[in-house]
Amino acid sequence: MVSQPGRARPAVGPGWKQTVPLPGHVRLVWHTSAPFPRDLPLDEFYADLAFPGPGGGLPYLVANMVMTQNGEAAVGGKAGVIGTRVDSLALTRLRVATDAVLTGIGTVLAEDVTAVLPESEAARRVAAGRRPRLTVAVLASRLAWPPDLLSRRLFTDPRFERLIIAGDRSADVPETARRLADLGIEVVRVRAGADSRPDPAAALGVLAARGAQSVVTEGGPHVLASFVRARLVREYFLTTAPFVVGGDDGLRPMAGDVGGPVSLSRMSRIEHAFTDPATAAGLIEAFERFRVLYPEASPASGSKP
Ligand SMILES: NC(=O)c1ccc[n+]([C@@H]2O[C@H](COP(=O)([O-])OP(=O)(O)OC[C@H]3O[C@@H](n4cnc5c(N)ncnc54)[C@H](OP(=O)(O)O)[C@@H]3O)[C@@H](O)[C@H]2O)c1
Repeated sequence: MVSQPGRARPAVGPGWKQTVPLPGHVRLVWHTSAPFPRDLPLDEFYADLAFPGPGGGLPYLVANMVMTQNGEAAVGGKAGVIGTRVDSLALTRLRVATDAVLTGIGTVLAEDVTAVLPESEAARRVAAGRRPRLTVAVLASRLAWPPDLLSRRLFTDPRFERLIIAGDRSADVPETARRLADLGIEVVRVRAGADSRPDPAAALGVLAARGAQSVVTEGGPHVLASFVRARLVREYFLTTAPFVVGGDDGLRPMAGDVGGPVSLSRMSRIEHAFTDPATAAGLIEAFERFRVLYPEASPASGSKP
């Protein structure tokens, strides 16, 4: 890495992505059916995502993850530092195109995550026939959490709805249950697997019962692996950031058994070219969209890329 002489080198750590200004456009470099290559104004980036409705009584489930070039899903225990603001926009556009967000308690414990949509993006939801407010479902096995967790935005921000989906074999923690009740947050119990974790299909069924046609899981890695293992993830949106960190505590975007090899059939690749705030070198952040193909059977329906 070459440092600029006489200039303080910006940290490539928490906050670095905020130093990268939003671009006017990204570049569609590959697509299964649309013309490429061509520039896409940022306004059009993942702006026309239209997922098919439910299949087998369960919402159409897509997954979104970001990783470093060497496959790290967290840096210093957080994912929010990996992508640029264009990556944040990709996630926002997935939230616009779906009815609910599914996340694991591991992610909620690790980061101060939120599901607030900017007003303009909420308006896109309404234009597409969805309610302006997202529903966020947090998957948990136990309700034994640090006391301050429920003060976080995910549990208190009135701009989205939330519920907890827990396994039916975990004991209530009275203090957590009382505080959740005070916050008006419902805990829905579903059947649990041998590991006491909520069964993925049963969890999606809870969202189906609430009218969700499509759902995005934003991880984390263990939840994503369990939903892939259950053959429920239909599409995978993966952002690859142009840096590596390394270390012994690496966490991959899918952590755990995914039930054998699963193929990812690429639907599109979009690139965001920007200047490295640390070295002034040109870098590319890549956004890939894959259809997830399971060896046992291919899903009956698929969405238009
Ligand atoms: N790169 C990215 O895009 C991205 C996205 C999200 C999070 N992250 C990072 O991932 C890290 C957290 O990883 P994580 O894997 O612990 O997060 P996670 O997948 O959000 O949470 C895992 C926990 O959720 C609970 N759980 C409930 N139902 C489950 C099910 N059906 N399958 C699996 N787990 C279930 C389990 O709790 P019990 O252990 O109590 O059973 C499990 O430990 C953080 O550092 C976060 O920053 C990265």
